[in-house]
Amino acid sequence: MSKTHSDILVLLLAVAIVLLAYIAWGSGERADGASPDPEPQQASNDPREAIPLNDEQMQFALAQMRGFLEAIEDLEAAELEGNTGAMARLAGAHGPGKEQPPQGFRDRLPDTFRAMSGGTRKSFAAMERHLSDGDLEGYRAERLEALRTCNTCHASYRFVSETRSTPRQP
Ligand code: HEC
Repeated sequence: MSKTHSDILVLLLAVAIVLLAYIAWGSGERADGASPDPEPQQASNDPREAIPLNDEQMQFALAQMRGFLEAIEDLEAAELEGNTGAMARLAGAHGPGKEQPPQGFRDRLPDTFRAMSGGTRKSFAAMERHLSDGDLEGYRAERLEALRTCNTCHASYRFVSETRSTPRQP
């Protein structure tokens, strides 16, 4: 092989390596960050409907949820102590209109979600009424109704952070 020929061969090889590196780098960039996809959550196999919330709305919604579960725990504890008065107060604290939601929160929620959320609050108000009347059977039936609504809603919806895919600047 002449000097010129081997020089051309080396040059071609170098070009091929550069091209391969470029392709590998390019595809790597597409595969690694989820950034080109504005809503990576949509690709999930999760069949529940996603409700996008900002940080403040998310924290509010989840705090409400934990409050519900704590209320159920406290109601059980008070029932074991036979303290119907305390039970009535606990249930009443979770009735409709007790919390002021953050700006724009309600607008984010689908109608069915709102209906189930309102239904849960009404159930707590009904529990309070039954307890004030000393009607433990009525209370228990209403509590079961509320728990069914918790589970129906959990099976249908999930919250997704609308800020998750756009990390904050340091
Ligand atoms: C109207 C719909 C709805 C109702 C009613 C509802 N939840 Fe939820 N709850 C949700 C959603 C949506 C989530 C977030 C689930 C997710 O994103 O995977 C959640 C999350 C939670 C969490 C996790 C909180 C956290 O900090 O992660 C708890 C605990 C919870 N719910 C308890 C309850 C209880 C107890 C009830 C009934 C008394 C209830 N929820 C009623 C929709 C609802």
